[in-house]
This record gives sequence, structure tokens and C-alpha cells, in this order.
Amino acid sequence: MIAGVLARATRALTTPLLPDDCLAFVNPLWSVRVPRGRIVATRPVGPSTTELTLRTGAGWGGHRPGQHVGLGVDLGGRRHWRTYSITSAPTDEHLTVSVTAVPDGSVSTHLARVARPGDLVGLGPAAGGFTAEGSLLMISGGSGITPMLGLLRGGTADDVVLVHSGRGAHVHADDLAGLPATVHRHDSTTGHLRPADLDALVPDWRSRTMLVCGPAGMLETFTAAAAAAGVPCVVERFRPPEPVAAGTGGTVTFTTSGVTAEADAVTPLLRAGEDAGALLPSGCRMGICHTCVGRLTAGAVRNLHTGELETADDGEVVVRTCVSAAAGDCAVDL
Ligand SMILES: Cc1cc2nc3c(=O)[nH]c(=O)nc-3n(C[C@H](O)[C@H](O)[C@H](O)COP(=O)(O)OP(=O)(O)OC[C@H]3O[C@@H](n4cnc5c(N)ncnc54)[C@H](O)[C@@H]3O)c2cc1C
Ligand code: FES
Repeated sequence: MIAGVLARATRALTTPLLPDDCLAFVNPLWSVRVPRGRIVATRPVGPSTTELTLRTGAGWGGHRPGQHVGLGVDLGGRRHWRTYSITSAPTDEHLTVSVTAVPDGSVSTHLARVARPGDLVGLGPAAGGFTAEGSLLMISGGSGITPMLGLLRGGTADDVVLVHSGRGAHVHADDLAGLPATVHRHDSTTGHLRPADLDALVPDWRSRTMLVCGPAGMLETFTAAAAAAGVPCVVERFRPPEPVAAGTGGTVTFTTSGVTAEADAVTPLLRAGEDAGALLPSGCRMGICHTCVGRLTAGAVRNLHTGELETADDGEVVVRTCVSAAAGDCAVDL
């Protein structure tokens, strides 16, 4: 009876807050509803790349090797979400990611150059299925080493050859030596790594499953070589493929936010809306996670990957705003 009175009193005192909100007030990492991580260490691992070590909170559900995580960073009064490959093993005490600052990149520059131990970041759930079984050939370029680190540290396979290509100082150079894999380094200042190099480096490459992550050119070249040789190939992309451009764009109305934006035919609705000040949900920003979906209530949009048109007249049309562009004036219920 006393407990009941106390519970009612607590509820009365904290309403409209939920118990989770009160826990988060005492320690943000205790929130299950709004998962967060706290940066406990930063370490330079390349000329523009910083490894972040994060203590995860109560809301973190763990990960599998090869998965990635959304990090939410508050910049300019808005939360921005970007995706980063997890480089730590599932059994490690802390979660690690490595962020390369890209030119004009708002979130990567902040995380790689400004973020400090003690800072909090939003944490999305782990996602993705970049993995394979059996004998593996990993091919990575630049910051594309990160999902390979996650797989190798997670102990995914016994027989792995890693060919890593970098320009001058390799990202995670000091960590390559300790990996459970045969490692070949290729210096791309002397020319790009080519499929023809594999015969000398990894003579049995045709009997291995290929995993590739790196610049767009590397992905295209090696997936084509794998297809030609009948070799299974799994790819991790950090950026979406070049958009399929057509038409002239239009005015996009985000009906829930009450924001309108002018968007051309190659700008994702997500970016157009954010630039106009709308608070829109997002995760991977390249069509994988479906966090950014909204119902198309008027007009038409074009899928930037396939070029296909989707129109509100087709019935219940749900679009991924990160890979859809306006095809004339349109409205989305976000
Ligand atoms: C599955 C997945 C895993 C990823 N893992 C990692 C990782 O482990 N480490 C890491 O550093 N990044 C990783 N990324 C990329 C990361 O999510 C961001 O895209 C990147 O940090 C740039 O964000 P930004 O906000 O700084 O740039 P934005 O402000 O979004 O873009 C600024 C400019 O940079 C260009 N740009 C965007 N992304 C890249 C890129 N990757 N390379 C070069 N130019 C770019 C844009 O076209 C734009 O011109 C991953 C992405 C995905 C989808
Ligand atoms: S943000 Fe992941 S699908 Fe759009």
C-alpha cells in the first residue's frame, strides 16, 4: 500500500515526464528510449581519421561483426545522423568507430576534429549485413578499412587475405599488423590497385569470397572483376551511387513540418528539406535503413538509384526521402 502511494506520488511529481526521462536527466546513458553513447577516448589513426571510443548506454542493443551504427550529432541547433562502421568486436567493453573528415563534411569534420572525450552522441541501432563465410579476400581503400577491422576483430573467418590500398599514410596503419589476416598493403600514390594485381598478390583469389569497401572506382572495378571470374562479392558503400538525373525537380511540401523547399531533380528530398529547416528522420542516408520514409500525398518523385517514378496517384506510396528527388511539385507527410 505504501509502495502504491509512493508510485502515485512519483508519477504525479514527474508527469508529463516518463520515468525514462528522469533517468536520462540523472545520467543520459541510462535512457532506454533515447540511446546515447559517451566518447571516452579519441585517437588519430590516419591523416584525417580519428578513432572514437564510446561507452554505450542502457539503450544499446549490441552488434554483429561487419555492422554499422548511426551517430547523432547536434550541430547548429539540429541533430544530424550519419552512419559509421563498427570497428570493435561485439565482446569488447567499448564501441569504436573511425571517422574520416571529408572536405565540406559537417558531421565527419566535427567527429574527426572537434569531438572530445566527455561528449555525448545519439546512437541508432546496429544495422547492416556486410559479412561472408569461408575463405575471404578483403579489398579496401582508404577509410574502407573500417568494416574489415570490425569483421576481423569480431573473429568472423579463419582464412582471410586483406589487400588494403591507401595513399601514403594508411588509415589504421598501426593496427593492420595485429590483424588475424594475411595483409598486403598497396600504395595508391603509384597507381590504383587493379584486379590484375591480384594474381601476384593472392594467387588463389578466384576461390575466395570477395568483400570490397572503398572509393566508388574501386567498388566498380572489383565487383566487375568478381562477376567476370564468377567469384561471389559483397560490397559495403559509404556513399550512394551517382544519382540518375531526369526532369526539373519542383517544390516539395513536408506537410507535418509545414516546411516547403525548392529541390532540383538530383537533390534527395531529405537534404532539400533539412536545408529548408525541416526536422526529418534519417539514418544511413543511402536507401538501406528505411528510417527516412514518408507517405507521398501529392505529386511524383523519382528514385535516384533506379530512375523509376512513383506518383501519389498509385495509391499508398511510401518513399525513402534520402534516395528520392522531386519530379515536379510534390508533398510528403513528414
Ligand atoms: C554503411 C556505411 C558505413 C560508413 N562507415 C564509415 C566509416 O566507417 N568511416 C567514415 O569516415 N565514414 C563512413 N561512412 C560515411 C559517413 O556516413 C558519412 O557519409 C561521412 O562521414 C560524410 O558525412 P558528412 O556529414 O561529413 O558529409 P556531408 O555533409 O553529408 O557531405 C558533404 C560533402 O561530402 C561528400 N561526401 C559525403 N560522404 C562522403 C564520403 N564517404 N567520402 C567522400 N565524400 C563524401 C558529399 O557528397 C558532400 O559533397 C559510412 C557510410 C555508410 C552508408
Ligand atoms: S536514411 Fe536510411 S533509407 Fe533513408
